[in-house]
Amino acid sequence: MTLRIVYVVLALFVCPILSAKEQAAVAMPDKFSADVAKSILQQGGNAVDAAIAAQFTLAVTLPEAGNIGGGGFMLVYKDNKADFIDYREKAPTAADRDMYLDKHKNVIPNKSLYGIFASGVPGTVSGMWLAHQKHGSLPWKTLVQPAVDLAKQGFVMPERLAGYIDRYIKRMDKKGIKLNFASYFGHAVGGEVFKQPELAATLERIRDQGYDGFYKGQTAEIIAAFMQKAGGIINQQDLAAYQAQQRTPIQSDWREYQVLTSPPPSSGGIAILQWLKMYQNVSAELPAMAHNSSQYIHILAEIGKRVFADRAQYLGDPDFYDVPVKQLIDKDYIAKRSGQVDTDKISVSEQVKPGLHESEETTHFSIVDQYGNAVSNTTTINLGFGSGVVVEGAGFILNNEMDDFSAKPGVANVFGAIGGKANEIQPHKRMLSSMTPTILLKGGKIFMVTGSPGGTTIMSSVYQSILNAVVYNMNAEQAVNSPRFHHQLWPKDVIRYHDGLKPQVESELKDMGYKLDNRHFGDLQTIINRDGKLDAASERSGRGQSYVF
Ligand code: GLY
Repeated sequence: MTLRIVYVVLALFVCPILSAKEQAAVAMPDKFSADVAKSILQQGGNAVDAAIAAQFTLAVTLPEAGNIGGGGFMLVYKDNKADFIDYREKAPTAADRDMYLDKHKNVIPNKSLYGIFASGVPGTVSGMWLAHQKHGSLPWKTLVQPAVDLAKQGFVMPERLAGYIDRYIKRMDKKGIKLNFASYFGHAVGGEVFKQPELAATLERIRDQGYDGFYKGQTAEIIAAFMQKAGGIINQQDLAAYQAQQRTPIQSDWREYQVLTSPPPSSGGIAILQWLKMYQNVSAELPAMAHNSSQYIHILAEIGKRVFADRAQYLGDPDFYDVPVKQLIDKDYIAKRSGQVDTDKISVSEQVKPGLHESEETTHFSIVDQYGNAVSNTTTINLGFGSGVVVEGAGFILNNEMDDFSAKPGVANVFGAIGGKANEIQPHKRMLSSMTPTILLKGGKIFMVTGSPGGTTIMSSVYQSILNAVVYNMNAEQAVNSPRFHHQLWPKDVIRYHDGLKPQVESELKDMGYKLDNRHFGDLQTIINRDGKLDAASERSGRGQSYVF
């Protein structure tokens, strides 16, 4: 090659990548997705390209939550504009309000959680397709191919995942729940290559046909035939009718930041803004609080009571129910609600009402690309391994997202969340979610990209990661690994918390009347931009992997 040709090649192919001066970062729930996302960015792809490739990779390597049989939310900040792709599952046409009740109108245990009736119509492939059409820069096939390879050639099964699979199969057996999960995953051995040929073939159809490769043609026929054989209710029309929805993210100021977060059918965006804004009001009246002191935890639990009272009453799919988003984060409303917070003792749960008049699993990743764009993406099949049902012939796990609806007013779902009319089951409706992918801007530039799995605890993980980074000036490692806590009005006065709270704080909370529940939750994936330097971290308790490059 002459020197001249070398220069042309450099100018055409290498320089556009190198000339992007900014750093990039990924915070991913496993190493496979981190490697794929990093490689897509290094090929010159943008954050959305990397997110799409990571989503498909996770469908192969993180079967407890990564998926094509579920849904999620993707928050995008690109070219200085925010966008939100809602690819949440929908209730099938044959769903009805009382489908999980017996003839005495009691909730039938486990029917919305395990087995063929537990699934909503999956939204993931449509979501990725829409994200690619709107924001992608590399070819679709390039983004799906890494997942095809990992499914076809296999990946080395992490010991922790093998252990999780084994415990899940034993737990289901013990409960007497019959699922086909074990015949697909029961042979997984930690440290050995694990292949998924049926899933590989499904991903190849998605790679080659895009949206149609899942919602039409062979894959749709396989899903519908399997549903019919197993007595399920999702049919080909449900699949063909599914479309991911573009929505306007919630954008609201908090301190010197602009918070971009998730609108309904997520309850999370409203929740974290209520939490952050009420915290701001209450803390302004008090001397500075030590991080994770009993007073800090109590005040945030008090706020949580109000957040969850509103959630149960007002939050649902905005296409079916008029969610009063503006009123719920309005300055005067927040001031009224924060004024009700008792800074010294616990408010009586029964008296905390909605304020307006009238395995948990899931997974999250955060990406900042070299062009200054960001993606915050949370995706789910609900509990770990979803409904436990694998579509035979297509090799992917179906969600159990129908449990996120309110099966009966006032009866708690698996996360202890209650709901009413706003979140009752209706055909084609999206079930309420707590997924809260969030981005903070400062002076128009990305300051933080954050999110977590964990059902209703998601919001606590997200707002506490923000307080950790902003109020307590923590780096990403500290922000994701500092012990967290969660309170959601019901069960009464229970605070769930991570290991690592000071024993004195625990006894002070008990003295105040709280009941403490020491169970870990969440898996934060967070990127922080401190004065142009990126810092990324994956919570230590998970299998996550972060890179700054
Ligand atoms: N399935 C958990 C959530 O969407 O909140």
